[in-house]
Amino acid sequence: MAAFHQRVFSGVQPTGNLHLGNYLGAIKRFVELQAQHECVYCVVDLHAITVWQEPEELTRNIREVTAAFIACGIDPKKHIVFNQSQVSGHAELAWVFNCIARLGWLNRMTQFKEKAGKDRENASVGLYAYPSLMAADILVYRATQVPVGEDQKQHLELCRDIAQKFNNDYGKRISDLGFGDAYFPLTEPLISGPATRVMSLRDGTKKMSKSEPSDNSRINLTDDADTIAQKFRKAKTDPLPLPSTIKEMEERPEADNLIGIYAALADKTAEDVLKEFGGAQFSKFKEALTELAVAKLGPIGAEMKRLTADPAHIDAVLADGSARARVIANQTMKDVGKIVGFVGSSS
Ligand code: AMP
Ligand code: TRP
Repeated sequence: MAAFHQRVFSGVQPTGNLHLGNYLGAIKRFVELQAQHECVYCVVDLHAITVWQEPEELTRNIREVTAAFIACGIDPKKHIVFNQSQVSGHAELAWVFNCIARLGWLNRMTQFKEKAGKDRENASVGLYAYPSLMAADILVYRATQVPVGEDQKQHLELCRDIAQKFNNDYGKRISDLGFGDAYFPLTEPLISGPATRVMSLRDGTKKMSKSEPSDNSRINLTDDADTIAQKFRKAKTDPLPLPSTIKEMEERPEADNLIGIYAALADKTAEDVLKEFGGAQFSKFKEALTELAVAKLGPIGAEMKRLTADPAHIDAVLADGSARARVIANQTMKDVGKIVGFVGSSS
């Protein structure tokens, strides 16, 4: 396949309660990738409204995710930070992809099944078509790599299927127009490290999530030191001391989760952490974990507060990012229009 310009893209929904899972599974990786890659990071407000959002709260949450990006170390001058609704190419390409993706493909999506629950008849059409919009987010920038948590793996496979089918269906047009043998890259997911799936602090078999009613199930990026300490103290564990080997950890989801969190925060492997704490009591380990989490998250929370106090500055960052994103997305939509055969797309 043709060689593609390397570009990283990822998105986070502005749906409140940004937590340690979002940080370790996604945002921390976004920050690291900046050194070697051209990155586009998006606050996906169009995705958020696939379930009902109070308008004032949505506005606040868009600014809060933007503040979190910046507070965690994303540089919006060197890279692109913006909100999805302001670049019309996302919704336009999503429509084209709705006509490429098959019902059978979307019917297999587990996130839809989980979010729609039993009352599927009453879920929005947007929630069902969500993965097609997600593919458009990525491919409107023809992004080659996407850092995400484990829960997004299936959506990224669908993104590749859509790219492949588009490249095949329009193969002749794509090559006749001089785009080579493929217009869209088969995007690679970047899912790695010790915390690609951070679990609830109350139940090691459930994902840490923004929408879980119990706030004690997650560490929020804006939690203060006392709250972090209290939540880790209350975190569910089993009665045994910490395991000493990865094998022993496998049957112990809560231990596995806390060790993974420690490893990710300390930039170590789970093996390293077990070497240090294997055989120790949970109470001792939880103290070390709290100290580490407060040291890493405290400055982020403080910076988020400082940034959200000045919404005009955040809005200016988003406006600037949107303008730069639009340049790339508009070019893609021109190319796609030509490939598909729309009149008016050639100028
Ligand atoms: P969302 O909050 O659904 O918009 O997710 C934003 C990013 O955080 C995505 O890349 C998710 O895969 C990642 N993420 C969400 N929850 C977790 C979790 N519990 N563990 C690891 N990554 C997560
Ligand atoms: N679906 C992702 C989530 O819920 C958010 C998202 C939307 C995304 N578009 C994206 C992630 C494109 C990566 C790339 O977490």
